[in-house]
Amino acid sequence: MIAKAAIPLSLYIHIPWCVRKCPYCDFNSHQADRSGIPEQEYLAALFKDLEQLLPRVWGRRISTIFFGGGTPSLLSADTVSNLLSGIRARIPCIPVLEITMEANPGSLEVEKFQQFRDAGITRLSVGVQSFSDQNLQVLGRIHDSEQAHRAIQSVIACQFDSYNIDLMFGLPAQDISAAQLDLKAALAYQPPHLSLYQLTIEANTAFKISPPENLPDDDMLADMQDVLVTEAAAAGLERYEVSAYATSSMQCRHNVNYWEFGDYLGIGAGAHSKITDQTGVSRFSRPRLPKKYIATAGSNEAFVNERKLDQKDLLLEFMINALRLQQGFTLQQFSLTTGLASDVISDGINQAIRKGLMVKNNDRVKTTDRGFAFLSEVQLLFT
Ligand SMILES: C[S@@+](CC[C@H](N)C(=O)[O-])C[C@H]1O[C@@H](n2cnc3c(N)ncnc32)[C@H](O)[C@@H]1O
Ligand code: SF4
Repeated sequence: MIAKAAIPLSLYIHIPWCVRKCPYCDFNSHQADRSGIPEQEYLAALFKDLEQLLPRVWGRRISTIFFGGGTPSLLSADTVSNLLSGIRARIPCIPVLEITMEANPGSLEVEKFQQFRDAGITRLSVGVQSFSDQNLQVLGRIHDSEQAHRAIQSVIACQFDSYNIDLMFGLPAQDISAAQLDLKAALAYQPPHLSLYQLTIEANTAFKISPPENLPDDDMLADMQDVLVTEAAAAGLERYEVSAYATSSMQCRHNVNYWEFGDYLGIGAGAHSKITDQTGVSRFSRPRLPKKYIATAGSNEAFVNERKLDQKDLLLEFMINALRLQQGFTLQQFSLTTGLASDVISDGINQAIRKGLMVKNNDRVKTTDRGFAFLSEVQLLFT
């Protein structure tokens, strides 16, 4: 049986609207109507959504909250404040919550940063992507480099407990020195957290239909990443996950809970949940389209693709998440979150050690540098 009370529980809130859809983006985001976002209807639906999930997590406390998108910073600060008090009224939370919001650097959003802080947001994740106007245009972003700088300056002035800067690399016509310039501009602010994402061309995006020209080749991408990792480390930002870098103790607790295979309630259009109870681990999501989500919130129709994970799923899903962390995982954590004896992964771990892809130190297992660079090869050993 799984000791569910010991597994941390997070809350993810999806806000599915953006001012405009970016050509590379495959997130569940939709261009907002001219009439704006139906905030009150959505807020009511989020509460119904949460209330429906409460019986599945009785007695448990929320330890982190994350507003993701889409563009959550399009919401009014009043809605964010009402949402946070409504959540606290419905489910217990630990005293020192990490509450992150993804924010775009548009000027209208930046004006609201202080209000978001006052509403209870403790951590802002700013989607800068690049400090080069040319790159921002190629990426179809609606902000320019000046707005990116202003957004970071405003986050610092508002004194959030922490903040993150999202940057993308491997952009069209970008060479290593151009990627270094972007990183240097971010590091000049001495951010406590940085996310560096390699541009991927995803299915069902405008870039898939009409790919941008002059994308860097694989060799250049590998060299670019090496340089960025080294320079971030020199500035005190350790790569603790495939795309995440932080100064000590500033890791994103919410995302670390995903990677440690913790539980999470996902509310909002298309949001995913993972919940452990006495019978095992289940996953399900919510309807993707905002209208359908609002119309079905709280009803049985709101459960999409509900399934219980079997042993094979548990093992693979645990590895896919846990191996993303540089520090790896402990065998105790594996057993706690999957309910499986650690014997089921002994063969895979031994093979990985023989191939120089993993090391084991007492109860802790982690990838070597080579294993970290070839994660899919390591994950294959657990299929
Ligand atoms: C949920 S998204 C969006 C957050 C916010 N709306 C924004 O765009 O700034 C979080 C991050 O994923 C990254 N991202 C999105 N699509 C990507 C892609 N195709 N390739 C690489 N990174 C991507 C971007 O850096 C983005 O800031
Ligand atoms: S603003 Fe963010 S979520 Fe919205 S379309 Fe662009 S990348 Fe996707």
